[in-house]
Amino acid sequence: MVKFENVSKVYSPGTYAVRSLNLEIAKGELVVLVGPSGCGKTTTLKMVNRLIEPTMGRIFINGQDIRYVNPAKLRRQIGYVIQQIGLFPHMTIAQNVGLVLRLLNVPKKERDKRVDALLEMVGFDPKIYRNRYPRELSGGQQQRIGVLRALAADPEIILMDEPFGALDPITREQLQDELKKLQNSLHKTIIFVTHDMDEAIKLADRIVVMREGEIVQVGTPEELLRNPANDFIREFIGKKRFLRSPEEVLVAEIMVEDPVTGHPEVGAAEAFQRMQRHQVNSMLVVDERGILKGILTLRGVQKGIQSGERKKAGELMEPVTETVTPHETVLAAARYMAKSKYGLLPVVDERGILKGLLTNASLINTLVDVLWPAEEIDPKGEDKNGSNSIELMGNLS
Ligand SMILES: Nc1ncnc2c1ncn2[C@@H]1O[C@H](COP(=O)(O)OP(=O)(O)OP(=O)(O)O)[C@@H](O)[C@H]1O
Ligand SMILES: [Mg+2]
Repeated sequence: MVKFENVSKVYSPGTYAVRSLNLEIAKGELVVLVGPSGCGKTTTLKMVNRLIEPTMGRIFINGQDIRYVNPAKLRRQIGYVIQQIGLFPHMTIAQNVGLVLRLLNVPKKERDKRVDALLEMVGFDPKIYRNRYPRELSGGQQQRIGVLRALAADPEIILMDEPFGALDPITREQLQDELKKLQNSLHKTIIFVTHDMDEAIKLADRIVVMREGEIVQVGTPEELLRNPANDFIREFIGKKRFLRSPEEVLVAEIMVEDPVTGHPEVGAAEAFQRMQRHQVNSMLVVDERGILKGILTLRGVQKGIQSGERKKAGELMEPVTETVTPHETVLAAARYMAKSKYGLLPVVDERGILKGLLTNASLINTLVDVLWPAEEIDPKGEDKNGSNSIELMGNLS
């Protein structure tokens, strides 16, 4: 459908904005170009509708070299949505949505019908909205109109350049969901630009990761998550999002990094307060070198307080029999955890220095994510390790 053949763009001699780009996009595919600012996404997109001309290489649409297509005609056949919405403020919603249809000389009656159908498609009552002006709409509503305008002439190809970038996170998610739904019924060929990897993963059939004008990796979201080509992509995806087996995920990646700790000399009352303040039911006891000495449970500390003697953490703590090192795998950790009577596993290095803590909940979450990867694609899942660990520790006694 759209084919880039060795396409390069040089704005100023010596630097490539886009370099030797080769990419083939199938009919009905939603391809997301993702990468850091300045990597050439917009340039790539605008070369498709000839808003920018390549310095080298060729672009084909349905086998036709677009250099030989009149740019104005080309643009009417390709929907285009940009971040700044680009609605005309002096035109009503209906006029904005129907703009391309007017340029294509579609008769007014037919145009109105089409516009109303489009408005209804995304839940706008035409009677209310068709005669409003853009300023009378929220940002999210305006952006929806921008999408409708791109769809109006029923183009085969739609280019979208960070269309949801300026919206608040909730509106943004709504529009992403709507776009997915629309795409499921319309099957357009869409090239979508974003620098947000979560958005790319959510929307894309295939993701094209770009860096400094070049393609770094092309693949389905799943392929990218499973086999990131290099550290750049791994970092871009984020360290917490993995689709690996439990033998591959390391303890260091999922541990709580600042568990509640106290020195052996800390008094029982103070230890009790500390646990209450952090809403946990145990405290790891570490000496001045950071070496793990034991675990003080809420029950232990309560006994100490009841005994009336001025007992200290070092006297009230119990030994920790099960620990794990940061370099061990989650699978190994799960085995130790099964033997731990506290439902938690301190993470210590070779010298016995405390590095973090694994809780039953964080471990289970990780295993669930690994076994049902779709869960992990939900960006809201990011913090669940941290918050659940507190809940779990709160339930210990
Ligand atoms: N008209 C121009 N003249 C000169 N250089 C340009 C022009 N447009 C873009 N560039 C340069 O080309 C490179 C790629 O720009 P482009 O706009 O394609 O990046 P982008 O990936 O869309 O970035 P962003 O995420 O910030 O929108 C950048 O280094 C940019 O400075
Ligand atoms: Mg851009």
